[in-house]
This record gives sequence, structure tokens and C-alpha cells, in this order.
Amino acid sequence: MSASLPPQYSTIDSMSNTSKIGICLGVAAAAVGAAGVFAAYKFFKSDRPRSGSLLADPDNHLAEEEVLQGHEVFRHDRQTKAVMMANATKFLDLMNTRRSIRFYSKDDVPMDIIMAAVRTACTAPSGAHLQPWTFVIVHNQKAKDKIRDVVEREEQLNYDRRMRRSWVNDVAPMVGDLHRDGRVAKPYLSEAPYLIVMMKQSHRVDPTT
Ligand SMILES: *[C@@H]1O[C@H](CO)[C@@H](O)[C@H](O)[C@H]1NC(C)=O
Repeated sequence: MSASLPPQYSTIDSMSNTSKIGICLGVAAAAVGAAGVFAAYKFFKSDRPRSGSLLADPDNHLAEEEVLQGHEVFRHDRQTKAVMMANATKFLDLMNTRRSIRFYSKDDVPMDIIMAAVRTACTAPSGAHLQPWTFVIVHNQKAKDKIRDVVEREEQLNYDRRMRRSWVNDVAPMVGDLHRDGRVAKPYLSEAPYLIVMMKQSHRVDPTT
């Protein structure tokens, strides 16, 4: 793990075999799990101000209701329809540039960029604000190769046994450049400079007990 990263993130650059990777993932999950429980605990025990001082507009009864429930008021400026339409169109244009990429450059990517992407993902809402996820950034070539191997084997089972024939036929044109003779191939998993593995936290340990 790198000392320059916040504790909830880890890289496995220095790891050389899968058992070490497993340990690293486990440690990362445990560290984030503990931090997450603490954050969740603080969230529920928050002594965040509940007074009317948060009100931007004393006539805003919705806001008043939210303050009474101990929530923060969301402040925003109401825009004209023309401005809203311009903003919405701009956002649509941006979202419309999203693509599912299966061929990646091997060029390196600055870690700051990777971290910004992970932090953006972490802004996603989650039930009870528990944020039950751990992101593991993988750069080590052997680790990426191993992940590719595992993913390809699982996907092969999907194609051979789990998915309906009609579905396999439907996706055939999309994977045609990658799969040969019915063999699943995901070269991008070992070629892309980084893999970001998202792990589910299925349980946590309460550090206070
Ligand atoms: C919408 O556009 C206006 C004018 O450019 C800007 O001031 C405002 O912050 C934008 N609103 C949002 C939600 O982006």
C-alpha cells in the first residue's frame, strides 16, 4: 500500500502474487469498513444544528420541515426556464459522449486522475448513507493478468451455460472483434494501465463493541 494515499484507498503495485492481492483486498476492505462504521455512527449521532438558523427563507416551509428532521437544507437558485433548458442540454451533450470502451491505450494515467474518478464514484448515494464499497486500484501487471484470467473463465461459463442462446446471439456482433471461436477474450483487462475493482462490503464490525 502506498503511504501517499488516504487510508481508504490502496494500490497493489508492489504485490507479486495472488495470495498477497487477496490479503491486500481484505485489509483494504477491513480498513474502509472500520472507517465507514465510524462515519455512519457519526452520521446518526450527529449534533448538527437543528435550529431555524439554517433557513434561507423563513417562508420556505419545506426547508423548515427538513431542518426539524435534522437534515441540511439544500440551497439553490431558481433559474429561468431558458437557463434550465440551456443547462439541461449542456449536461445531455456531456452525458451523450459516454461510450462503452473495449480497446484501451496502454499509456499511463496520472494517479491524481484515477483518484478523482474514484472520489467522483464515491459521491453516489447509498442506502442509509452506508457507502458499502471499497475501491481497489490495480496497476501491477501480474495482478491484472490474474484478474483477467478469473473474469474470462467466469464469463466463459456465462456464455456456455448461464446465458440463453438467443442472448449469446444478440451480443455476438458487439463482442465479435474480441471473441474467437466461442472463446471469451477480455484483453483490455490486462492492457489498460489501471483496473479499478469495486468491492461490496457485505458486513462491518462495530469498533465500539
Ligand atoms: C445554469 O447556467 C447558469 C448560467 O450559465 C449558471 O449560472 C448556473 O450555475 C447553471 N446551473 C447549474 C445547476 O448548473
